[in-house]
Amino acid sequence: MRLLVVDDDPGLLELIRTTFEDVEVEVDEASTSASARQLVAARAPDVIVLDVRLAAESGLDLCKALKSDPRTASIPIVLLSGLVDLVPGDAAEAGADAFLPKPFSPLQLLGLVERLAGGLGSYTLTEAPLDRSDNAQLMMYARDLRRIVELERAQRRLLQEAYGATVGALADALEAKDVGTRAHSNRVQRYALDLTSAVEPALGDDVSVEYGFVLHDVGKIGISDRILQKPGALTPEERRVMEAHPTLGHEMLRDVAFLSGEGLSVVRHHHERWDGSGYPDQLKGTDIPLAARIFAVADTLDAMTSDRPYRLARSWGEARREIFSQSGKQFDPRVVAAFCEREPQLRTIHRLVAA
Ligand SMILES: [Fe+2]
Repeated sequence: MRLLVVDDDPGLLELIRTTFEDVEVEVDEASTSASARQLVAARAPDVIVLDVRLAAESGLDLCKALKSDPRTASIPIVLLSGLVDLVPGDAAEAGADAFLPKPFSPLQLLGLVERLAGGLGSYTLTEAPLDRSDNAQLMMYARDLRRIVELERAQRRLLQEAYGATVGALADALEAKDVGTRAHSNRVQRYALDLTSAVEPALGDDVSVEYGFVLHDVGKIGISDRILQKPGALTPEERRVMEAHPTLGHEMLRDVAFLSGEGLSVVRHHHERWDGSGYPDQLKGTDIPLAARIFAVADTLDAMTSDRPYRLARSWGEARREIFSQSGKQFDPRVVAAFCEREPQLRTIHRLVAA
């Protein structure tokens, strides 16, 4: 869309240009009616925004002239006016398609211009604003900005809810194959989030991390039920297939935008070990993404303290001993220290979830 703005106030020209260029509207500018006429003749705009008060020929006269010329009569015109004595009727008489008193809301002007350019315009009457002080136009921009921020926040909330629902659906799909995994995902997510707050609180700002905690085993969707539900020990070949689940999960989710970052790394690296003997990439020490190192402790804690099809839950004390004994071997010592620090809170989570 191409817009011609005719105003002799350079500040206002700049404000309008900045507003419209952000939404990919091409803006031509004229500060006198003579230069406006030249621009219209050279290249007809889709809409003209015209200030009433111009030197020499007024905006009202220019509007009348353009509307009475068959070559330019169909170009929609929005009249802007800061004059207290100009009434909307004067603008209508001059043939304007819309009238906007200054100070105006840039969002309102944008909406008006878009409607007119789309051929949806009819004459628009706009109430004169009560505030006509020097900084009133600035306040209008501030109000518009606040409105945009509110809208953007609401959109972000909706998007987060949609992400949450998608993650929940994927977790449910895995639960349908491997009963009990949903409850495990929920528990382990809570342990891991609590440990994250102690190890690296800033990591909690990355929402993908929480999704990664829930979906860590999603790759098991691609593992056959025969192996997944086998009651006894796995053969070496079956184990090899089972150990492909982090890579499968990573392949499934690698293009999902809301998981990109640390969340996706939890899916791929949650079975890596601090000493480098884990899988799939045998990463070692701090080469293992931090969220995956945190998750590994949470995963073992839940695996040991909850019932499994082939054995009953072990005691909290046994799980604690196992985690301490694996510090510097399976687990990052820093995460084990955080486990120690957060043990009362983790026990509370355990009690609540068990209840
Ligand atoms: Fe896993």
